[in-house]
Amino acid sequence: METLKGMKRTHYALDCLELEMGEEVTIAGFVARSRDLGNLIFTDLRDVTGIIQLAFDDTSSRELFEKARSLRSEYTLIARGLLRERSSKTDKIETGSIEVFCTELRILSGAQLTPFEIRDEVAVRDELSLAYRYLDLRRPSLTRNIVMRSKITKTVRDYFLENRFVEIETPTLIKSTPEGARDYIVPSRVQPGSFYALPQSPQLYKQLLMLSGFDRYFQIARCYRDEDLRADRQPEFTQIDVEMSFVDTDEILAVNEGLMERLFKDILGREISLPLPRMSWREAMERFGSDKPDTRFGLELCDISDIVKDGGFAVFENALKAGGSVRAIKAEGLAENLKRKEIDKLADWMKHNFHCKGLAWTRFTAEGRSSSYEKFLSEEARNAVDARLGFKEGDALFIVADEKDSVVFASLGGLRCELARRFGLIDPERFDLLWVVEFPLFEYSEEDERFVAKHHPFTMPMDEDIEKLQSDPASCRAKAYDIVLNGVELGGGSIRINDPALQERMFRALGFDEETLRSQFGFLIDAYKYGAPPHGGYALGLDRLCMLLLGLDNIRDVIAFPKVQNASELMSGCPSAVSQKQLDELGIAVLGEKSE
Ligand code: AMO
Ligand code: AMP
Repeated sequence: METLKGMKRTHYALDCLELEMGEEVTIAGFVARSRDLGNLIFTDLRDVTGIIQLAFDDTSSRELFEKARSLRSEYTLIARGLLRERSSKTDKIETGSIEVFCTELRILSGAQLTPFEIRDEVAVRDELSLAYRYLDLRRPSLTRNIVMRSKITKTVRDYFLENRFVEIETPTLIKSTPEGARDYIVPSRVQPGSFYALPQSPQLYKQLLMLSGFDRYFQIARCYRDEDLRADRQPEFTQIDVEMSFVDTDEILAVNEGLMERLFKDILGREISLPLPRMSWREAMERFGSDKPDTRFGLELCDISDIVKDGGFAVFENALKAGGSVRAIKAEGLAENLKRKEIDKLADWMKHNFHCKGLAWTRFTAEGRSSSYEKFLSEEARNAVDARLGFKEGDALFIVADEKDSVVFASLGGLRCELARRFGLIDPERFDLLWVVEFPLFEYSEEDERFVAKHHPFTMPMDEDIEKLQSDPASCRAKAYDIVLNGVELGGGSIRINDPALQERMFRALGFDEETLRSQFGFLIDAYKYGAPPHGGYALGLDRLCMLLLGLDNIRDVIAFPKVQNASELMSGCPSAVSQKQLDELGIAVLGEKSE
């Protein structure tokens, strides 16, 4: 093995695109692959920027040629040579029209045969690629994602620093913060039986920083939530966390819109038009069945409760009598694509995922109408449904009835996204950004049999709803907002309560008893007694932001070392057992696996 001594890199692979032919370069990296054609050897060298071809031929010295011949995949090397035009050009790599004709080569390390081929074109099982994530990260597309993430983070940081924000770190060993998910907890050694929680967000600290007078805070903050994983969820993730003083909703939204404008410009070279549209939570639910509506396609929901209320079909009437609703989606022109068998499968999928009790449907093709429920429905009601939805030949119609509005929304909201995905109704070039505002302040928790805060208990009610806190909590709306990009919740936040008396009323409306209140939030309640500016903020999911800006559909692809479904990290094998000594020091006894 050789050393770097006396040889220093002058360029990265992609830098060579900027240079004149004939220029001398020294580049370093990994062997992506090497082809030995007898009197010619071509080696693809991969570095963090991309790939460039090194060439050796029979005019090279014998020693150099033999060394080149010994190169194997993933060896690391440094090479000097002259840039020249490539004789067989390719557009498979960005530098496909040039190569480095080598004059000097040093092999800096060898490499064992890797457990999989490190190429974007080669699909590898997740378990294998994640167990060797450091190798997987060498894949050019994954390398590029991580590099782009760094660029996105820089843009974010620059934006806030240019706008008078102060970057402040907050602790990660904290007292449990209510964000709605389960905490990861960390035992204390010096105080056995006591625990820290890892932050689900820096929420309380950023509010306190406003009370400390910092005025505008931001942080690229790690957050931890013990919840089920999905394509856009990881147990540890990163927030762009923001809080501002002496502002109301409009100013906070404007600051974030400025950030979005900058990101779209710097990262994608695209203009977005501001201000972003705002939609009330109610409208989002009514039209799209979701509080993170994907507005890139139609298939909107339509309330037909008033029509079918006396239409004769018991399933619909009973749902309405129980206080629910009946809503429909028209799948325009899709009747031929949605045969009976497909619909049955969709119905099962919806029952399983969204807990609806059934999916009523009608198909209207050249052969006529077929329907799961029309025989039970009066002709008058049927005609009225047709008229409201503009239902015509070629279309399919889907209806969900339930005693819970939330089930109807979730089922049809899920169905519309599934249909759009399946039938390619989404323009991949389109980015739809919008705010969802006027969220409900509370939501009813079946589990706790009481109202809980929808956002968190420090969220300011809308001015006109303050009077109804106790008398009609269900109808109270919050000064809370979410930003949605292409049907993904990118971020959210709220104006906080800065009046201790109002905060007390809020806690009372949430049914907190005095003791829980003091022990959980005593320090925070006290803090608001010493002068508290009006303030509010929000947090954006950085991982989700990167995923969407880079056109990916899993946040794992923008996280260097992600976790898998059961929250373990396959490379290092955590979580894992710890020694008895460590447990003893913590005063912890492990009871063994919980039986389900
Ligand atoms: P919220 O809980 O809405 O708000 O979180 C803000 C944003 O963080 C991202 N996010 C996640 N990303 C990946 N994996 C997860 N498990 C995950 N959970 C959340 C989402 C989400 O929109 N403290 C408040 C903000 C505030 O009020 O200022 C908060 O955390 O993109
Ligand atoms: P049934 O008499 O239960 O077979 O129902 C007749 C049709 O109504 C079937 O297509 C069911 O899927 C549908 N259906 C049943 N319950 C619901 C519901 N809650 N919402 C919509 N359609 C339903």
